[in-house]
Amino acid sequence: MFRRNFLSIADLTNAEIEEIFALADGAQTLRSDRVANGQIMATLFYEPSTRTRLSFESAMHRLGGSVISCSDMKSSSTAKGETVADTAKVVSSYADVLVVRHYWDGAVKAMAEHADVPVINAGDGSHEHPSQTLCDLYTLRKEKGELKGLTVVICGDLKNGRTIHSLVYALARFGANVVTVAANGMELPQYVLERLEKEYGYTLAPVASDDLSAVVTETDALYLTPRQPHQLALFTQLDSTMIQSRFNTMVSGLRYDAFYMTRKQKERMKEGTTGGDYPTIGPRFLSEQRFKDTVVMHPLPRVDELSPEVDKDRRGIYFKQAAYGVPVRMALLKFLFNQRDTKRMPTRRGPAAYQSPEPLGPQCRNPNCITVMEPPSTVRKFDIFTGGPGGALILGCIYCDHRFKVQLVGHIKSKRYCAYDTGLADTVKEWLKKKELAIFNSIKEAEELSYEPYKSGPQRTIMDETEIESAVRDISRQILGDCQEPDRLLILGVRSKGSYLAQRIAVELENQRKTKPEVGEIEIYGSGDEIRRLSAADADAAPLNLKDREVVLVDDVIYTGRTARTALSMIFRSGRPQSVRLAVLVDRGHREVPLKPNYVGKNIPSSERERVRVKLRESDYGEKDKVVIYSIINPNEAGQAEINSERTVNPD
Ligand code: CP
Repeated sequence: MFRRNFLSIADLTNAEIEEIFALADGAQTLRSDRVANGQIMATLFYEPSTRTRLSFESAMHRLGGSVISCSDMKSSSTAKGETVADTAKVVSSYADVLVVRHYWDGAVKAMAEHADVPVINAGDGSHEHPSQTLCDLYTLRKEKGELKGLTVVICGDLKNGRTIHSLVYALARFGANVVTVAANGMELPQYVLERLEKEYGYTLAPVASDDLSAVVTETDALYLTPRQPHQLALFTQLDSTMIQSRFNTMVSGLRYDAFYMTRKQKERMKEGTTGGDYPTIGPRFLSEQRFKDTVVMHPLPRVDELSPEVDKDRRGIYFKQAAYGVPVRMALLKFLFNQRDTKRMPTRRGPAAYQSPEPLGPQCRNPNCITVMEPPSTVRKFDIFTGGPGGALILGCIYCDHRFKVQLVGHIKSKRYCAYDTGLADTVKEWLKKKELAIFNSIKEAEELSYEPYKSGPQRTIMDETEIESAVRDISRQILGDCQEPDRLLILGVRSKGSYLAQRIAVELENQRKTKPEVGEIEIYGSGDEIRRLSAADADAAPLNLKDREVVLVDDVIYTGRTARTALSMIFRSGRPQSVRLAVLVDRGHREVPLKPNYVGKNIPSSERERVRVKLRESDYGEKDKVVIYSIINPNEAGQAEINSERTVNPD
């Protein structure tokens, strides 16, 4: 039987969403027509819920159908170790539609793969909550008319808030503007921003805030807008005046149509962490004249981020938003039942999918992903993208959407592997097309599968241990010379080589100044804490606060500048530093973006076919520090050729 699931907001086109809204407008007719007569809905909620569960159940009853449920999944056979796959398979033989909430990202998708009836995602981990988004859009449309052109300020825990992730994609698709005001350390994850940029053409002005008063003064907040290129990330040294003037030109005269507040998702935070300060909305905040028509929304439940005093205010529309849950979910059920009858197939959009042809293969890096938590319920598949920052090859998990960078690729016929490099993009596309592409998590894994390394061209040492040491010392001296307030200094390394260099710079600074600056690490493709402290001792402390800091971003090599640009945009998204300067050990001279590092260990002009590799004792075990240059040998050309090389190519 053909069935249509609703797992992500991307599963519906804008026209289909409009169709559902039209059905919701006529919910009374759906009720009197008893469109679900004789149908059974099963609700499987592995996490607590009031609104989603009860409004789905109410919707089904009002459509003339009935509901079966498990009052508490802990009292189901889950407690005996039954997988989500088996539960879905079994329960789908008792019901005509499943509504599922689960604490693992991607778990509902895994269940849909094993069910024989339509499955609706009622919230999966921190990933998505698409039916909430339908209620949000419906409410906004009722209150404000057209969605296109609206400006919605989303506030709070944007990292863990699944409602937020579905909502920003939908707002982007309908042409609304989004301003984000995240609590410190709870910014929109990089994978969400990447998707907004790649799939919906949204660019962002990477200026973030840690309190709502920033919106009042228009000096902060991250502003996402369709097709308006921004320039901020192109500067390596921004003072607050520059940020303010640039931001003001973007948002002056802006009308804020809605505040969308969310609670701190404590259940998804590491035990013992509180997450620090959190924005709040109350009558005083709303008294600003220019918020006179700004409605306040919240998916609820609220804790203390939204004052009950706003309940009396005509602009507080969150109870209406919850009430729309019933007509909207009646409409969604009717829509999915219709689809079952009409056999209309949804078309899959997006990048090529990758499944490892080898028994070992890439693994999602999101520790809360269903593929990690319960591998037997999943088939590990990834969306594959070329052209990430620095030309990286990126995999996106099809269950949880988290993205990560590929380090090692192999060719299943020749049984050779090498580090991925932009120069291999066409070759890798060809292998992918022929299903001959292997991707490995580690060299050990490649070698366990009897793969041997491709050889690189001859290598020339261009910086030795002494030169690197002296460059780190020079850079540290210059940093100290430029530093206005050493106590505000934060040395932030781009993982992984940049992080090691950042730590060395910090040690040098300590030698020169007798106090060690704070050191952090930034991960371009992380699964969560993308900017974090490096010292183990305070790993559980509050997130790094970038506000008013003098940040020095450190990387080993700069070439196109794309990695540094991405890192800069993440920094400005996480807080408003006083300044950001860029330090690199090697500048290769070419640039795709107009970035100029402030501190350079050595300029080494090099061509596209050449590779510069920084070897550090912390990561290249048993080796001395050195910088080498070599030519890339295309694996297709290299074939069996034995190249006179010093060493094989290893990943960074
Ligand atoms: N908005 C929402 O998902 O609420 P519940 O957790 O009560 O279902």
